[in-house]
Order: sequence, then C-alpha cells, then structure tokens
Amino acid sequence: MIQHFRFGSPIRTDSVVQDIPVSSDAVPFLTADADGWVYTMVPDAIVYGLGEMPRGINKRGWHYVANNTDESHHGENKVSYYGAHNFLLIDGGPGGDLFGVFVDFPGKVHYDIGYTVHDTLRFATEEPDYELYILTGADLNDIAHQFRQLIGRSYIPPKWAFGLQQSRWGYKTAEDVREVARQYKENDLPLDMICMDIDYMQDYADFTINKERFPDLAALAAELKAQGIRLVPIIDAGVRIDPEEPTCTEGLEKGYFCKKEDGTPFVAAVWPGKAYFADFLRPEVRAWFGHRYKVLTDCGIEGFWNDMNEPALFYSPDRLKAFLDSMHELRGQDNIVQEEFFARVVGGAMGLMNAPEDYASFYHEVNGQRVRHDKVHNLYGGSMTRAAGEAFADLRPGKRTLLYSRSSIIGSHRYGGIWLGDNHSSWEQLLANIQMMPNVQMCGFLYSGADLCGFANDTTPDLALRWLEFGLFTPLMRNHAAGGTRPQEYYRFADQLPAIRSMLRLRYALLPYLYSTFMQAALEGTSYFRPLGFDFPADPDAREVQDQLLLGDGVMVAPVYTQNASGRHVYLPEPMKLYRIRSVDDCDTELLPAGHHYIRCALNEVLLFIRPGHVVPVAKPASCTAQLDEADLTLWACPDENGKAGCRMYSDDGETSDYAAPEHWKVLELK
Ligand code: GLC
Repeated sequence: MIQHFRFGSPIRTDSVVQDIPVSSDAVPFLTADADGWVYTMVPDAIVYGLGEMPRGINKRGWHYVANNTDESHHGENKVSYYGAHNFLLIDGGPGGDLFGVFVDFPGKVHYDIGYTVHDTLRFATEEPDYELYILTGADLNDIAHQFRQLIGRSYIPPKWAFGLQQSRWGYKTAEDVREVARQYKENDLPLDMICMDIDYMQDYADFTINKERFPDLAALAAELKAQGIRLVPIIDAGVRIDPEEPTCTEGLEKGYFCKKEDGTPFVAAVWPGKAYFADFLRPEVRAWFGHRYKVLTDCGIEGFWNDMNEPALFYSPDRLKAFLDSMHELRGQDNIVQEEFFARVVGGAMGLMNAPEDYASFYHEVNGQRVRHDKVHNLYGGSMTRAAGEAFADLRPGKRTLLYSRSSIIGSHRYGGIWLGDNHSSWEQLLANIQMMPNVQMCGFLYSGADLCGFANDTTPDLALRWLEFGLFTPLMRNHAAGGTRPQEYYRFADQLPAIRSMLRLRYALLPYLYSTFMQAALEGTSYFRPLGFDFPADPDAREVQDQLLLGDGVMVAPVYTQNASGRHVYLPEPMKLYRIRSVDDCDTELLPAGHHYIRCALNEVLLFIRPGHVVPVAKPASCTAQLDEADLTLWACPDENGKAGCRMYSDDGETSDYAAPEHWKVLELK
C-alpha cells in the first residue's frame, strides 16, 4: 500500500507516475517535531536506500544531505554525491516495522540516521513544501517493487550498451580513438564503445566538433561501427559563451538560459570558461536543447553521457573578481598569519567552486513562476537527462539511444542511466561501488556502474583486475580515467592480460543472464542487484552482509575487494553451487552447504554462486555484443532437491523499442 501526504504547496518534480490521492490520515511510523520527522530504530533495524551516497548498504550511523554535488574526493566522510535519491526502506527485523519512505522534494533533504543519537532517524526538507509517500507491503522485495511502480519504468538502453566501454579524459584526436580500437582488437579483448571526453569539442563548446582533431566524425563513427564499436561523446551542462556558436546565440535569443535577479543571464565558468546554463526545468528549453544533439546523431552517434549537470560551477565572475581583489591586497606580503592564509587564501580559492551563494543567485521559470535555483537544485541534472531522453524519441524514433548522466533525481531514471562519478583508484572505492549498486538500483537507476579501475589517481594491475571481476556484473561497465593518471586501458596490463581477457570474455558470455535479468527488472519492476537481507529477512547473518549481492533470481556475487587477499569470507544463507571461474571454459564447481565459508579466490578467478533451482545460460565469448551467438548456450546450474533447475531468458533485437512483446521470453530448463 502507498499512502501519499502533501505539505504546503510543493513544486512538481515529476518523480512519480502514479496518481495517488492525498491522504488526510496521520503519517504512520513517523512523528513530527520542530526539526522534521523522527523515527526510533530498534537495535537491529536496517535502513536501506538513499541511492548514490557514501558508506554501506545499511545507511545507519551517518548523516547525509540530498544535495547534488560535484564531489571529486569520494570517501566515507562525505555527505552528498551527485544524485538526489530520497527513498529509504526501513526493515525493523522479524516482527518489527517494515516500510518505505519517499520524500518527493527538489531541494535539500537532510538525513541523520543514528549520527547524532544512535537509535534515532531524522529527516527534514529545507522548505515546508513537499510530498511524502509511505509504502508498506508483505516484504522488502514487495515494497521495493511498489516503489518502482510508483516512479515508473526504468530507462532501457540498447543491448550493445551492455558491452565494455573504454574511456579516458585524454583521447585528443581521431587517431587516439582508433588506437584504442586497434589495441583492443590486437590484444583480442572485446569492446563495444569508446567514450569521447571533452577534447572532441571545439573549445569545449557543446554540439561542436574540433575539425582539426576529428576531421570527419561521421566517417570515424561508421568505420568503428563496422568493427562493432560505437562512439559515446560527452555533453556538458554549461554552454560556452561564444558569439559564433549557435547553441549560445540561439539560447540567448530565445531567453532559454537561467537568469539572475536583474534578468540578465547567469554566468559561471566550467571547462569551456564562462558559460550559460539552459533552464532545463522549462519544457520548451528541454525540447530545444535535446534537439541540439542532432548535430551528433546526424554523424551516426547513438549514445551520450551527460556531465557537469549538478550543475558544477568552477566560479562566477563576480566572486572571482572579489577573490582576486582580495589577493591583490595581499601583494607584497611574505608573512601571512596562518588563520588568514587558510581562511582567505586557501579557503577563498576553494570557496569559489560550487559556492552556495552562486546557487542562490540565479532563477528558473517553473510554470510561469520564478524560482530560485537552490530551491530546486536537485532537479537540474535529471532535467538535462530528460531533455535528451525526450528528444531522442523524436530524433531516433523507435530506436533506443544510450544515455547516462552524472547528476540525477528519482524520475530521471526513466530517461537515462547514471555512472557514479569521479571515484578514485583505491580498494575502498571498489567496496563503495559494490555497496552503492543495490541502493542506486532500488531508486530506479538500473543502468548504472562506476568508473572501473578508478577515475582519479593511479590504479594498479591487481586493482584493475579485482574491480573488473565485480564490474563485469554491473549493467554499465566502463573503464574511465582522469587525465594525467597512469594509463589503464585493459590492454596496458601486460602481466595480467590473459586474466583480463578471460574476465572480459566472461562478461560477454554471461550476457544472456545479465541482459535477461536487466530486462526483467526494467519491465517487471524487480531488482537486478539487491542485498541478501531482501530474500532472507529472518536470517540475522544474511541481513548483516554488506559485501555480497544477489543478482537477479539465480545468482549471488561475492567479489574480492582487498589487496593481496587470496580469498574472502562468504556467507551462504542457503546451499549454493559455487563456480570458481578462471575463464568460461575453465571453472571448477562445488556444492556448498549454507553457512560461513572462507573461499579461496586467486587474482585470476571470479566467484559466482548459483542458487538452488536456477540456471545461468552462458554464451560463447564474443568480441562485441553484435557477435554474440545466443543459439549455442551452455547451462550452468544448481539443481534443487528434485534435480530441477531453470530460468527465463529474454532476447530481442536489442535496438528497437519493441521490448514488451511476450515472445521475447523463453524458459530454459536443465534436462
Ligand atoms: C568530470 C567528469 C569526468 C570527466 C571530466 C572531464 O570530472 O565526471 O568523468 O572525465 O569531467 O570532462
């Protein structure tokens, strides 16, 4: 059951698709005080949710702020990342409370989940106008399913988007891109996409192509597509101020950019220097900006990543000037006392970026009303995704277009996926990736994944391999790195190449299972990844697990995420068949009883656990998704006590939007 409460006059977010009458009953489970809503957690209550946030699957013991933030230093001491995913699922354990909470609000929401007082959960919106939904149901899976019905069907990418994406901020020319494709082929590593970071643009201006470095993008896209590789260019939120550039001049002419109080366009610097910001909250602006992607779809581009759309603001000219003036006053000084040095020099420089004052200095138009940006901040990035998603229906009718974004809000999961932003090459971030996936997907973002190997800092061959051994299960599978870091394309790790090759081939071989699970999750509102506690709510050991995930109906994964480990502790809530995989054709299997195990897992191995009664269909490895032969499948299985096992497999053309036809499904059974 879903109960809907309304407070004040909320701004419409379009996060939900079901029209649920507003209730006049008292809000169950929660009590209100002057600081917001309060709930007392029993000692072993688990709080799931909040999507893209730091810390464990269980969010207890920390505080968080839904405030979409360009956060380049990920870590457990942070309180906000790039997404606003205001859904909580509270499991009070056997016989305890069980309910979901969705705070439908476009501004900041503060959560204190046992941070101040260990057993007390509090949350509060920054304004008094919001919608609140309370969900109850038979169990966690049921409530999660109801929530997905409430917010509408998740975005479905083309099937090739489940292949590998290779990216790096640093492919500067068409030749650099060709070289990546060549190296993947020469090293016999499968690949489906190469991402193009901001260097393909002319002066970092959206919807432009640098003709010197990419003389014929259409020809390059066609040449690579013939090899089964798609190009995936980036589009940033900030539109470069450039009187020669039609996105800038048209947007200005039409009055489509966000404005300051005095009615002039708001300006802040991002990668292209000074930029304007389209008011994506207006439908006509979304339609206009979305149709600008045509410049690239006309070149045969079929996929995009939207970036910097919190929006990130490096500095506004006014604040930069004030800072430089203040530094000017210090000229000639060679002994600044430390308070002044940190507050004025360091703090002054750092404070230029993503400054709250800047977010409070420009306005949107929402249904003809002027609304200050910070009141609706979390809607911005998702609305950019929506702009593109809505336009693709027109630009590429009947076809699926790959789209994922950095910033998001629940609701934008219907238009695109997300990647988890600028993580770094560390073991801790590999664990964070594992722990974020189920919470992000609970909030509808099924097509999601992190920058494999890590974005910032230098990776190592063992981290690259261990991260791949988890990443090969994530729907969005992309290796991406910041400029200046150690090269980390998979062909760079000569000593680990055979193992990397086997793991990449394994991803492709598992696609019949992974794609079927994804399509089931999208079409039926079920889960792709979920915590063990969802299926074993009465098992205290299963509820506590924070580093193993159920994947669809039939699989559990337990990745190794610590350096120099020869294996890991795994908890099995039921007997399962372990496939210890070195390659598709080289795995050993073992039927393990329920309970605690220490399982060895060498650097070149991945652990896959199949649940009783289930089958995982495995294809022959392929060099790209187009080459995948799903006719000749091997069935990996864990028969139940009657010797039976089966699965439902989904297959379609992977390109058109005709996904709902029942004939896409067939049942496979172990003979
Ligand atoms: C941002 C993105 C990152 C990208 C960089 C340059 O930091 O998150 O993925 O490489 O900008 O465009």
